[in-house]
Amino acid sequence: MDMELEAYLRPPEFPMAPYPAKVVTLATGAKMVVREVDREVVPILLDAVRPTFQVARDYYDIVGVRLYAELLGWYRYRVRDEFCLVGQIDGLLVGIVNSRMYSPELGISLHTLAIERGLRIGAHLFASKMEHHIEYLNQDEVLITAESPIGFRRWMIEYGLEKRSGQHELGGATPYALTRDLYFAAKDRLVAGERPVPQELMEVAEKEIIIATENDILEKILGAKRRVLS
Ligand SMILES: CC(C)(COP(=O)(O)OP(=O)(O)OC[C@H]1O[C@@H](n2cnc3c(N)ncnc32)[C@H](O)[C@@H]1OP(=O)(O)O)[C@@H](O)C(=O)NCCC(=O)NCCS
Repeated sequence: MDMELEAYLRPPEFPMAPYPAKVVTLATGAKMVVREVDREVVPILLDAVRPTFQVARDYYDIVGVRLYAELLGWYRYRVRDEFCLVGQIDGLLVGIVNSRMYSPELGISLHTLAIERGLRIGAHLFASKMEHHIEYLNQDEVLITAESPIGFRRWMIEYGLEKRSGQHELGGATPYALTRDLYFAAKDRLVAGERPVPQELMEVAEKEIIIATENDILEKILGAKRRVLS
């Protein structure tokens, strides 16, 4: 690789505080470890996202392809100041969220994808990325948009986000803001989890990011009403 030219192609990087891992106890009693991952694990995450391209239901296809492009862009140093958190139960990947810093003050929420459904895994992971923007990256606000009705219910309505003018970088959609005040008003209700993660849980999560088979991912996403576009 021509590193001299590459230096021009790569966006600048802003130093970002790490997200401390936590464990969320789900309604079933399962323990989901939420942790930040490095760009080195992106190829594994891409394997988990690829099956979603086939699923039009609940907008998994558009969210999947955009998330894929953003993760690949991060891996190949073509996206500025991105971070990614994953949810794992016994090592198995159950959800992914990503985001980026537009500036030290402003966060841009990118995507939330739940692979295991019906347990508010997506809601917990979205809350975790807001926690990272506001509490650890210490940002003033996060701009958010929704690509699906479930997303709109989960973010705009549950957090009472403020509608803003202008365009979100995801397709120019209407941006909504999570301010610090809105975040702290919602925190007790929506942001779950305990720290530190017990050592044995953390070791299992860090040992391997286990990816379900494509068939299992499709069944988990579609539930009983499996309907895949061919
Ligand atoms: C939006 C999303 C992250 C929310 O994740 P979540 O909080 O874990 O919520 P679920 O998807 O499990 O459940 C949402 C709804 O789907 C339905 N649902 C639950 N289990 C389901 C299943 N196995 N199959 C199909 N639908 C299911 C329920 O009606 C549930 O309703 P509720 O909102 O009253 O709880 C997730 O639905 C998702 O990844 N969707 C596709 C991508 C997307 O839209 N991302 C957000 C973009 S803004």
